[in-house]
Amino acid sequence: MNTHMRSALAAAPDDQIVFDLAGIERQYATLVRELPGIQVRFAMKACPVDEVLTALADRGAGFDAAGPNEIAQAIRTGVPIERIHYGNTIKSDRSIIDAYRLGVRDFATDSLEDVAAIAAHAPGARVFCRLATSGEGALWGLSRKFGCSGADAVRVLEAARVAGLTPAGLSVHVGSQQMTAEAWQEAIARIAQVVVTLDERGIFLDHVNLGGGLPAGGYLDKRGRPLDPPVDEMFAVIREGMRLLRKVSRTPLDFRMEPGRFLVADQGAIRAHVSRLTSRQQLNGERQYWLYLSCGKFNGLYEMDELQYRLVFPSHPAAAYVPAVVAGPTCDSDDAYAHEDNLVQVPEALASGDPVWILSSGAYATSYSTQGFNGFSPLPYSFINVVDGEHGEHGERHGELGELGESGERDDSNDREAPGLRGSVSGVCVSMAGRQ
Ligand SMILES: Cc1ncc(COP(=O)(O)O)c(C=O)c1O
Repeated sequence: MNTHMRSALAAAPDDQIVFDLAGIERQYATLVRELPGIQVRFAMKACPVDEVLTALADRGAGFDAAGPNEIAQAIRTGVPIERIHYGNTIKSDRSIIDAYRLGVRDFATDSLEDVAAIAAHAPGARVFCRLATSGEGALWGLSRKFGCSGADAVRVLEAARVAGLTPAGLSVHVGSQQMTAEAWQEAIARIAQVVVTLDERGIFLDHVNLGGGLPAGGYLDKRGRPLDPPVDEMFAVIREGMRLLRKVSRTPLDFRMEPGRFLVADQGAIRAHVSRLTSRQQLNGERQYWLYLSCGKFNGLYEMDELQYRLVFPSHPAAAYVPAVVAGPTCDSDDAYAHEDNLVQVPEALASGDPVWILSSGAYATSYSTQGFNGFSPLPYSFINVVDGEHGEHGERHGELGELGESGERDDSNDREAPGLRGSVSGVCVSMAGRQ
């Protein structure tokens, strides 16, 4: 967490999710620097927040949209329509018609049925075929619902050509929060085989889409250990893969990616509060602490099934800790870290209303929130943008940031106070990493 985010969280009077727009822009800059020539199509599902989309669009990103509603939202950012593709292989006739009417001409596909529908309702469109991947190495595999074999991809793109569509590309998604570089190695090898086969059949692609899956750096695993994805290795493998694919293709290839999580996860944090810390005797006679937060699976932390978020308890700097199950506020037993035997160390003195900061929660937080399940509303959001030197909730300033030097580098130090806040918080500590 950088000092600007810390300041914003400390200044937030109520629950909200804070996005660091300049941080998102820095992530974008890192991506295009590490993968020269890559065209970014931000996966909107990860964070469909207008201000975030506009920040990315202004930097040159386009959008991976899953249907007409996302397409319409992407168009509102002002990006040229060529930078928006319909990246969902699942589409009804109605959706294709609406997307075509909105001007989209690039469609993902993975089946003959879908190609026939695109040909009927989006005549002359360009299609890219999604290859299946195993999803191995990822927290969320995305393996069976989408994508087809290489042999099927050849059939699908040949059918597209016959139907008057332009067979334009191939895509993959190696699984979300992918933790291994090998996943891209395997996917790229599979793409290369298909590119060669298509070349032989006179189908010359103009691009390859390497999908999403690039991981965030700030999560803990189910046991509370830092997830430490080898991002540099991934970039190296992808760069090498791009070189290889350019070599095997008879025609020039462009490269696209559809990152979601990588661009936004570590650039968002939630200011929540403690509902209650309780201790209850269980049926087995043991006493168990439960920490109920104001924010849980249904209003921002949907992904708590597969990971733990780092929690900060800013009003309890040097505390005695107790091991607790962390849970959300609803009357639903699913709304809890479902990590058996893995308890989180939390300050024993936590009181109702104490602020809690939930780090690396910028991806899939707003989009996976229910509309108010059990009466718990989705979180409002606010922004910081250190480039402009101000932060605000929907345009309002929260307070002065003070003199905040910004190196442009990621600052993971958790033991520093924001200069502008010195004295106004009783200390800052991170207190959620331990397994009992
Ligand atoms: C088609 C597609 N592209 C990109 C993404 C973004 O994935 P991630 O957030 O893992 O980068 C997703 C997410 O599941 C997706 O379904």
